[in-house]
Amino acid sequence: MSIITNIEDLRHIYKRRVPRMFYDYTESGSWSEQTFRDNSSDFNKIRLRQRVAVDMSGRSTQSQMIGHNVSMPVALAPVGLTGMQHADGERKAARAAENFGVPFTLSTMSINSIEDVAEYTTKPFWFQLYTMRDDDYVRRLIQRAKDANCSALVITLDLQILGQRHKDIKNGLSAPPKFTARSVANLITKWAWGIEMLTAKRREFGNIVGHVKDVSDTTSLSEWTAAQFDTTLDWKKIEKLCEQWGGKVILKGLLDPEDARMAVKLGADAIIVSNHGGRQLDGAVSSISALPQILDAVQDDIEVHLDGGIRSGQDVLKAIALGAQGTYIGRAFIYGLGARGEKGVTKALEIIRDELDTTMALCGERNVTALGRHNLLIPEDFGGKWQ
Ligand code: GLV
Repeated sequence: MSIITNIEDLRHIYKRRVPRMFYDYTESGSWSEQTFRDNSSDFNKIRLRQRVAVDMSGRSTQSQMIGHNVSMPVALAPVGLTGMQHADGERKAARAAENFGVPFTLSTMSINSIEDVAEYTTKPFWFQLYTMRDDDYVRRLIQRAKDANCSALVITLDLQILGQRHKDIKNGLSAPPKFTARSVANLITKWAWGIEMLTAKRREFGNIVGHVKDVSDTTSLSEWTAAQFDTTLDWKKIEKLCEQWGGKVILKGLLDPEDARMAVKLGADAIIVSNHGGRQLDGAVSSISALPQILDAVQDDIEVHLDGGIRSGQDVLKAIALGAQGTYIGRAFIYGLGARGEKGVTKALEIIRDELDTTMALCGERNVTALGRHNLLIPEDFGGKWQ
């Protein structure tokens, strides 16, 4: 067995192990995938400032996100269909995160339900909310997250309708997979995945099936969103959701300084600068290039987090040094999960932590909380000069 030294190694194993339609789901952006690519490649435009002859002993990657202690400022992002990448994927990822000391965020579109994850973990996790047309369902969903002791509600703002991802449509992506000649041919080659999947607690959307009237059967993600998601979501509605929740709120999917100011006005605890991993508005700017302007717009009025394109501890360091208080990994942990289950998620977290730690040291810093723009070389036109 080859030795795993970076996140890309995990992606290779993941690709071999998991059915093509679920790999494609992870590895897609919308339309031309420009934003998906820019999310990662824009990190490379920022360089690191090497410092030497600094005492490197006693280093720490510990920090806080929305006041919660974290062993490093990296949370697991909400990812739909995680339980299709590996049997009981959400439970396993949540447990790996808990043991590592970082937050886990459960997606509304998960396979394991809120209750499944709560039963399998000992510490509170975060719950990501998609708003549906059925108000009563949303109310119950929020209540279920409260009952499960979730410690933050992450409200996604950039997906009232689904960005078109060509591969998902061509693959007929659904949970569980629908059997077409092409998908069967591919599934037959993924026997290890399949055998484990037979033992999984669930193979359909666990927060939805049995909880929404008239949905007893599973639908494809695109059909479901088109039929059920609330296209009328606006700031007034977000305010109501915050009231219903009554706890810490993180608003996810902001890319524009004006929207960030709206989030401050609303009194949210944090925002996530995000373009949904390049899966929604293709042609939007990368998350990392949007970060400086957003930080300037909100100053210290709200905690700013970032997701999109993070595949290494160096990427984490760049986001934190620019001024984000926390970051999220989605694909990077899914690669680990698909490759090796819970152990693979732990491996992905270890890789990122070790890269972060070593990079920090070589930049002459001992503490992740001391990172700042002084550690970076940022091109003058970073973020672009747009008219
Ligand atoms: C859902 O959140 C997706 O990006 O598929």
